[in-house]
Amino acid sequence: RDNVEWSEEQEASAKSKVQENSSQLLPPDKQEEYEVNAKRYWDDFYKIHENGFFKDRHWLFTEFPELAPNRNPSQNEDSVREHSYKEESNNAGLGSCENGHCSLETRAENQLNLIKSTPTFCTEELAPQKRSEVNQSYGDYPGSSASYRILEVGCGAGNTVFPILQTNNDPGLFVYCCDFSTTAVDLVQNNAEYDSSRCFAFVHDLCNDQSPFPMPDESLDVVILIFVLSAILPEKMQCIVNRLSRLLKPGGMILLRDYGRYDLAQLRFKKGQCLSDNFYVRGDGTRVYFFTQDELDDLFTRAGLEKIQNLVDRRLQVNRGKQMTMYRVWIQCKYQKPAAPQP
Ligand SMILES: C[S@@+](CC[C@H](N)C(=O)[O-])C[C@H]1O[C@@H](n2cnc3c(N)ncnc32)[C@H](O)[C@@H]1O
Repeated sequence: RDNVEWSEEQEASAKSKVQENSSQLLPPDKQEEYEVNAKRYWDDFYKIHENGFFKDRHWLFTEFPELAPNRNPSQNEDSVREHSYKEESNNAGLGSCENGHCSLETRAENQLNLIKSTPTFCTEELAPQKRSEVNQSYGDYPGSSASYRILEVGCGAGNTVFPILQTNNDPGLFVYCCDFSTTAVDLVQNNAEYDSSRCFAFVHDLCNDQSPFPMPDESLDVVILIFVLSAILPEKMQCIVNRLSRLLKPGGMILLRDYGRYDLAQLRFKKGQCLSDNFYVRGDGTRVYFFTQDELDDLFTRAGLEKIQNLVDRRLQVNRGKQMTMYRVWIQCKYQKPAAPQP
């Protein structure tokens, strides 16, 4: 049932659903309103759901072993199995979608399938000289003495960060995480597992390219983006990826999992919710973009990174009640900063 092939018929039917739901775009003043108030809509989301909506993801480590390189692969088998069972039994039909948010995973174990599948340049970035002045001022920063540094961007309530802290017991590990929602960052900081000697949660708006990061350029081993880039206005994505790529050490990696084109969440939008091509607003004011593999490849390669992985994970989801078949479509990417040239 997983990773099923996607026929031309299915592609055509998805395309026509998208044509239909994007035939009428929201007017510019409404578009502007969702951009200006984006943080408030996500704050409201976390006030309602706290950390109950997005599930913990122990599968992370099978897909992204970079998050816990020293982990023994059998280490989490029990919790993964238990987790998988829980998710399967929760997953009757499409019941896990609410207000346009679909819970992000249907199964904990991932069997992956490789299916084949105009950016804007930033004008307001800091000039290289200015950046180097900023970098020189870092000195002692949170996590400065660590040997392996991970940053999770758009961390929400911490459903990725806490599994990383539990699973990766490298004493040299330090995990940063940020979100522009102060409500989300409060949830992380107030979590009983938050340990300031191993992690640092901070408020950061990715769309504000003047807002500094608490660590210098070339200091991170891993940057992780889980269903986050899709929440950003498409015109702003390139600038964000460029900035994140500068934070990576040579050899460091950006890991991403996000919504793919024609995911069931895209097909379920109604007319009047489309902001621009493949970008929609949910009933609660939060927004979502649906990527193709090529778009993500462009974003990362233009930021100077090299492809390690770029795949589609497509799963059949059957709604028995409505006799409808739909697909979850996720894209998973790993892009690496080239190692420094040998002298
Ligand atoms: C779909 S949620 C995913 C949350 C989390 N990564 C997870 O998987 O549970 C998208 C997240 O991106 C955050 N976000 C959206 N726009 C942002 C921005 N401009 N800067 C920082 N975070 C942002 C939201 O607050 C939200 O927590």
